Amino acid sequence: MLKRLIEARWVQSLVARHDLKFIERLMLARHDFTAQDKLKRVFRRGADPYQYATSPYELARFERMAGLLAGRRFHSALEVGCAEGHFTKTLAGICDRVTALDLSEAALQRARQLVGQPHVEWVQANVRTWQPEKSYDLMVMAEMLYYLPAPAKGPSYEKAFMLFLERLLSRLEPGGRLLLAHGYGTAADLAVREDYGLRVERLGLRRLASERIGDKPHDKGVLFCLLQLFNKPEAHA
Ligand SMILES: C[S@@+](CC[C@H](N)C(=O)[O-])C[C@H]1O[C@@H](n2cnc3c(N)ncnc32)[C@H](O)[C@@H]1O
Repeated sequence: MLKRLIEARWVQSLVARHDLKFIERLMLARHDFTAQDKLKRVFRRGADPYQYATSPYELARFERMAGLLAGRRFHSALEVGCAEGHFTKTLAGICDRVTALDLSEAALQRARQLVGQPHVEWVQANVRTWQPEKSYDLMVMAEMLYYLPAPAKGPSYEKAFMLFLERLLSRLEPGGRLLLAHGYGTAADLAVREDYGLRVERLGLRRLASERIGDKPHDKGVLFCLLQLFNKPEAHA
């Protein structure tokens, strides 16, 4: 009931128009609470709930992600939504330092055990409100942006999403790379994934590559992935 009310477009417009900060914060807090609760249940089911260690589809996705980063060593990477560290392990091999962030403490505990590298720093935080203190020359966000309040849901969600993205990307160094990888099963989901890339471009990053994988039936049914790689231009470019 409350959810339906705060997500109604007329409520959203009213909040955005009158800058009702309190209601806006309430809507976002409610979203965060629901997402966190859902994730808690997912990781409580046991280790590797997404089958990252065994699914040929996921392993192929990680391989393509690594392929897009190949040929460069990074000095400081940020992985947002690292889960149990399956891709963090790869990042640890190509980066001098890695900050791996996740909302789930249970996932982070397993990630620490899996990766076990001293140059990886683990951070438990909600990335939507997290204030990065360092800068990075690589950021990776894979299978996580759709957990945030969806910008299409209304003006205050839109504003919150862009504020989050802007804050994060302000800590990407000039010349730094951003890798996005998000699975989809329908044309509508693909449009949402493409929209993430367009928003990133709107904030001044340049697209270097865009690939899709998973065009054949596989172990996870018919699931595809859109991988997008961006570069932050040097200040003088
Ligand atoms: C589906 S897993 C993706 C794991 C990995 N990035 C990958 O590519 O497979 C999504 C992860 O994002 C985390 N996550 C979701 N919302 C988040 C948020 N607001 N802040 C930080 N982590 C979040 C979840 O806890 C979960 O571990």
